[in-house]
Amino acid sequence: MPTHLVALAPGDGIGPEIMSATLDLFKAAGVMNHLDFVPVEMGKACFDRGETKGMSEAAIRAVEDYGILFKGPMETPKGGGGKSINVTARKLWNAYANLRVFKTLPGVETVYSRAGVPIDMVVVRENIEDTYGGVEHRLTNDMIQCKRLISAPGCDEVHRFAFQTARKLGIKKVHCGHKANIMKMTDGLFLERFKRAAQDFPEIEAGDVIVDALCMNLVVKPQQYQMIVLPNLQGDIVSDLCAGLVGGLGFAPSANIGNHISIFEAVHGTAPDIAGKGIANPTSLILSGLMMLRHLCLAREAALIENALLTTLESGVHTGDFGDKSRPTPSVGTQKFVDAIKDNLGKAPKANAAPVPEAAEACFTRPPRPQQMQVIRTFTNVVSHVSGCDIYLDTPLSPVAVADEMSRACADTPFELKLISNRGTQVWPTGSVYTECVDYYRVRFELRKDVPLGTIGQSRAVALMDKVAEKFTVCSFELLRQFDGVRGYSMAQGQ
Ligand code: NAI
Repeated sequence: MPTHLVALAPGDGIGPEIMSATLDLFKAAGVMNHLDFVPVEMGKACFDRGETKGMSEAAIRAVEDYGILFKGPMETPKGGGGKSINVTARKLWNAYANLRVFKTLPGVETVYSRAGVPIDMVVVRENIEDTYGGVEHRLTNDMIQCKRLISAPGCDEVHRFAFQTARKLGIKKVHCGHKANIMKMTDGLFLERFKRAAQDFPEIEAGDVIVDALCMNLVVKPQQYQMIVLPNLQGDIVSDLCAGLVGGLGFAPSANIGNHISIFEAVHGTAPDIAGKGIANPTSLILSGLMMLRHLCLAREAALIENALLTTLESGVHTGDFGDKSRPTPSVGTQKFVDAIKDNLGKAPKANAAPVPEAAEACFTRPPRPQQMQVIRTFTNVVSHVSGCDIYLDTPLSPVAVADEMSRACADTPFELKLISNRGTQVWPTGSVYTECVDYYRVRFELRKDVPLGTIGQSRAVALMDKVAEKFTVCSFELLRQFDGVRGYSMAQGQ
């Protein structure tokens, strides 16, 4: 009698082929005694029908009811048009941590396997925030911006998940990858909250590494990392780099974990060039399915399948996209590959066999549906005061001409003109003639020295913007505030 329902979206391109092969394998391993896979409509067919989310209302209801989505790759319209369904699903259901496991697999030849360097590491990527909010605007003729959003509770959720997972997997050291040397506030917050979370896991060593150095280290000596936790965009790039270390995206499983809903998917795309040919490699989807089985506490079935998969790879059976060149075994199609794994159920590989528990323990219970949207908070009781504003202008004038106009605009206000920057570099009151300017200026006003902090509210800053807007196109506006006496904004380069 199945105990859990799983929403099943086979995907586009090679999706249906690798999904049906994976389910065939799961059935042979007894998974269907515990899980009932319920097909839902997601992907290209929905986009083609004009459903901009890329999924039907019934699919949304099913995923929310069951708490688990198992999905194949889905086509994303490029450039304009619908947003990526993968990103939409993760964000809509707050699957805030992307967990990817990278392990050297037998029979999968890579530069590292040839050199005898074993790889076994986990990447946890924050999944909701960062530039993946997709908050983008055209500000002037020549300038487009993308907002990078990093929140303290968003960081806390992903760091807590990373350390909890490290504890569960027996991982002794977790690194935080970041770029806090340049983005001192956003990446700085990500790093600071990592250090804070680490205090609750004293048995795990916490380290940090700047993301560019991390990429080099991963290529030169990947075995020095056990788990790396990163902000969204950096995590996206680093996790594909790690996939390359173990043989490509076809061998990198992925889970998107949230408090209520989790999504398990193959990380490669729909492979339109080989779709319908029956030659796609189902390994990534199978491995992602194993993460799902373990999430649902079907550890016995997961271990059975994993051992059979490793035994099959060890024996040299492979699809056309990989293999060990020193053993010229001809490639097989998707179904033959899965048939070989089925034949190996009950066998164990020579190296790194997963222990097979006696029976499945049914430990997964889906948390109840929230009554309303939650507001998650980290810092409360912080006192903030307005100390100025940044007004962003669309103008082709020179910095000196902008400064003249802005000095006049703030003449009878509590604010004084503090600096002007262009693309983040200060161009007034001092600057370099070598700095090239574009048609988008930031003009910073701060409270005059004789105006005490806390005596002026935001309406005076908005009034100043109003005055500037009488003569200039104002593209955007940011309040400058101090939080518990600490400046809540960055300085310009060269300031
Ligand atoms: P892709 O991953 O589909 O293909 C890149 C190359 O890898 C192709 O040569 C393909 O044949 C090969 N390949 C991929 N998976 C394979 C497998 N399982 N077995 C054998 N060969 C495999 O990437 P591409 O071409 O950039 O994207 C195609 C479509 O997939 C796009 O619409 C893209 O938006 C979407 N996509 C969806 C993802 C998802 O649903 N998670 C992730 C990445 C892309």
